Parts: sequence; structure tokens; C-alpha cells
Amino acid sequence: MTTRPAAVVVLAAGEGTRMKSSTPKVLHEVAGRTLVGHAVAAAQELKPDHLSVVIGHGRDQVAAHLEQVAPGVTTAVQEQQLGTGHAVMVALEGMPELDGVVVVTYGDVPLLTGDTLNELVGTHVVDGNAVTVLTAQVADPTGYGRIVRDDGGGVRAIVEHKDADDATRAVNEINSGIYAFDADVLRAGLSRITSDNAQGELYLTDVLGLARADGLRVGAVVTADAWQTEGVNDRVQLAAMNRELNRRITERWMREGVTMIDPASTWIDVTVTLARDVVLRPGVQLLGATEVGTGAEVGPDSTLNDTVVGAGASVVRTHATGARIGDEATVGPFTYLRPGAVLEAKSKAGAYVEIKKSTVGPGAKVPHLTYVGDATIGEGANIGAGTIFANYDGVAKHHTVVGRHSFVGSDSVLVAPVELADGSYVAAGSTVVTGTEPGELAVARARQRNIDGWVERKRSGTATDEAARQAKERQAEQAEGEHA
Ligand code: UD1
Ligand code: CA
Repeated sequence: MTTRPAAVVVLAAGEGTRMKSSTPKVLHEVAGRTLVGHAVAAAQELKPDHLSVVIGHGRDQVAAHLEQVAPGVTTAVQEQQLGTGHAVMVALEGMPELDGVVVVTYGDVPLLTGDTLNELVGTHVVDGNAVTVLTAQVADPTGYGRIVRDDGGGVRAIVEHKDADDATRAVNEINSGIYAFDADVLRAGLSRITSDNAQGELYLTDVLGLARADGLRVGAVVTADAWQTEGVNDRVQLAAMNRELNRRITERWMREGVTMIDPASTWIDVTVTLARDVVLRPGVQLLGATEVGTGAEVGPDSTLNDTVVGAGASVVRTHATGARIGDEATVGPFTYLRPGAVLEAKSKAGAYVEIKKSTVGPGAKVPHLTYVGDATIGEGANIGAGTIFANYDGVAKHHTVVGRHSFVGSDSVLVAPVELADGSYVAAGSTVVTGTEPGELAVARARQRNIDGWVERKRSGTATDEAARQAKERQAEQAEGEHA
């Protein structure tokens, strides 16, 4: 069941000292999204009327980031971190009077899903609770708030580790810090909590105990998936979370029909989309807004960032950012595609080829050792090995056009701006500064002359000289044989 909450409050004011970072903790990323980005994405699945993120440490950076990734979200600044209860008070002050359900969650629990939040809210509403807390059974509950239940199994209170006696510390059911509250109960409870505890903080957890003491219904949703309640406090946890989230993402795509030879070495951001029968080989990273079409094969050892790969394309040992690879195009190995590289259907970018801000037309080929910058290459054109598109004159970038079915000989330099017409040729080794007309061959290199006897005069006594002498002898014998 889904019930739209009046508000979701995301707590993200804490410092995250153990990250040892100049970046605020919640701006560290897993699977291509910041920690707070994950929290906001999960919260947005509830479609709340209001979504407020409580910020404090690194507030300017966090606020700027939220402005970028979630413009509809409001931020509330908590000047001093006086406790989770205080943080929620700050959020409520920044919103109109709320009526209905208020969900509280954290900015540093990246595996929490919208589904789990929906289940929490659903149980809260169906059971008619005043407060519902998300809990988990864990092997080592050290540091967490413990769920204290009465003899009938009902939730009675949450006791912080530092305030707990030995019997309570033996409890393995922990408070995730994620709750659904009735808005009125929350507001009233927050006005009554005190900092009379081991940490001298205003505990949000005390609102649950107060509601229960008032005879209101308090409940818990125990999740079997403790990962969803886990926060990130240091880089070791960040890596563990990244690995687990990636495991979930890869598993999801395999169930959707993607083949992965080695899911553990395949890294896929949450923002990536894959079609059926895609094959991902070991060592592939698919990042950002990357999309891979039906039957395309990527890898091994490729990184694609914000890159679209068409159906049936093949991409081997390639690094691409902001590129578009057409249907059945082939790329790699050792190819570098930079922003604006567009490979049309059935085109090819081969070994040691770098392409930037250029279009390679349908079926056109750039097979070996080439730099293509600021160019339009027409359908069916062939760019010879070692061709350089010289797009930069030291001041500005200029455009080059290679016409349809044109042929650029190996080791040519095309000095932009220059335009080769459809159906024209460039001789190998040319430095082209003047464009061609249709059907022309451009030859732009010194005419060759061969100097007879040079090796004998200038390199006499060398192995080369000896080889030349032997070859000449053989030629002479052959000539004699033919005469005989
Ligand atoms: C809190 C809970 C504990 C629970 C644990 C789960 C309380 C009193 N305790 O403990 O029961 O098991 O989370 O991780 O709530 N924050 C603010 N402003 C503050 C204080 C905290 O925004 O003034 C934010 C932090 O950035 C963090 C979250 O709230 O994202 C939790 O804060 P933290 O200090 O880690 O709470 P714990 O003491 O671990
Ligand atoms: Ca914590």
C-alpha cells in the first residue's frame, strides 16, 4: 500500500569526521550518486508533500549539490548538532503546519529503498500507529540504539547504547533511525524531550518512548535486509556499501536479461540503463547516464560514462565520455571517445583512435592510430592509418569535413578548416590544407627521387652495403639466366 506522507525529513547535518575528508560525508558517492542523493531518491518515491534535508557541516556544498540534483527539495540549517530530535525540530520550523505522516530518515544510508520506506509508511497507517520504527536484527549491535520490547513483544522504548544497562545492551534488535510519525505526535513529543542523557543531546528516539507512555500505539517494521539500515561512517564502510549496492544492481540487470561474465568486476551506476541480451565482459564500468542497447557487447576493460551504445554494437577496451555509439558500430580495442563523439550505425573506430566532437558517418571507418577532432566524416568514408585531423591552430578550433565514400590515405594530416568533397581521395602522407572537388585526388607531398649508388658511396662496408651488393649480383645472374 502507498500513502503519501505529509513530509520526509532527511537528517544530514553531522560532520562525518571519520571520513577524514574535505568533502562533506553525504557528498561521497556510491554507484554514481552521492549518499544524500540516494536518501533523497528513496524519499521521493514516497511522493511526500514536503521533502526537507537538514544540513549543517559543509552546508554550502551540500545545499549547492541538492539544488543541482533535486531542485524541489528544501534545506533547513541546523547550526549546532544538538541531537537527532533537535535536527527534526529545525526541519519542522522550516515547513508549514503538517498533518498526516512524517517520515524521518538519514542522509548516509545509501541502500535504503523507496520500497522499504513505503512498507514502513504502509504498516504505520494500516496499524494506526502514532510512531513506527524501522529496525533490524544484527550480530553486533554495539553503538546503536536498542529496541526495548515489553513482555507481549510490543515496542516500549529505544535506549541508546551509551545509556543502556548490560541487559539492554544484550538486545540485538537495533534502531535504524528511520521512522514514520504522526505529525501531531511528533510535534508534541519534540516539545517535551530533554537532553538529560549520557550524550547531553535531544534524542528523537525519546519521542517514541513518550508516545508509548501516553498509551499511543507504537510499532516496528523489522527488516530482514540489515544493509538497508546501515550508515556510512568511514571509507571502509563506503567501499563495502559500494560493493553491496553494485552486487544488487548487477543482479537486478542479470534478472532483466543482461549477461555478465564477472559481475564482481562489472560496476554499474544506479543511473545506467541496459537492454536485453547485452553482454558485459570483465572489467567494465558503466557510469552516469550510460545506456546500452539490445545485444550490444561491452568489454573487457572498458569505461563508459554518459555514453549511449546502440543495439548490436561492440565496444572493446574503450574509454568513452559523452559519446554516442550507433547500432552495430565497432569500437576498440584501445579507443578513446571524448564528448561529442558520434559514431553512426555500422561505423568503426579502431585501435589507438581518439575522437572528439566529431561525427563518423554510417559505415565509415577510422580503423587505426588516428586523432579525429571537430570533424564530420561522411557515410562510407575510410580514414587511413595514422591520419591526424589538425583542428587547432594554437588559438581556435576549426572544422574538417570528409565527404561520403571519400578515402584518406595513411599518415595524412588534414589541416582544418578544410573540406574534402564526396568521392575524393587524399594520397598517403599528404598534408592537406586545400579542399578537394568531387572525384579529385589530392597529393600533397614532395615527389620522390631515388639516388643511384648512394649506399655504396656513403655507407660502404656496412651490412646494408653488403646486402645491396648481393641483391645486385642476384639480379645480374637472373638477367643472364633469362638471356640464356
Ligand atoms: C542514532 C539513533 C540510534 C540509532 C542510530 C542509527 C538517536 C538519539 N539515536 O544514533 O538509536 O541506532 O542513529 O544509526 O537518534 N544528525 C543531525 N543532527 C544532529 C545529530 C545527528 O543531522 O544534531 C544526523 C547525522 O548527520 C546522521 C544521523 O542524524 O545522519 C544520525 O546521527 P548520529 O549522530 O550518527 O546518531 P547516532 O548517535 O548514531
Ligand atoms: Ca550513526
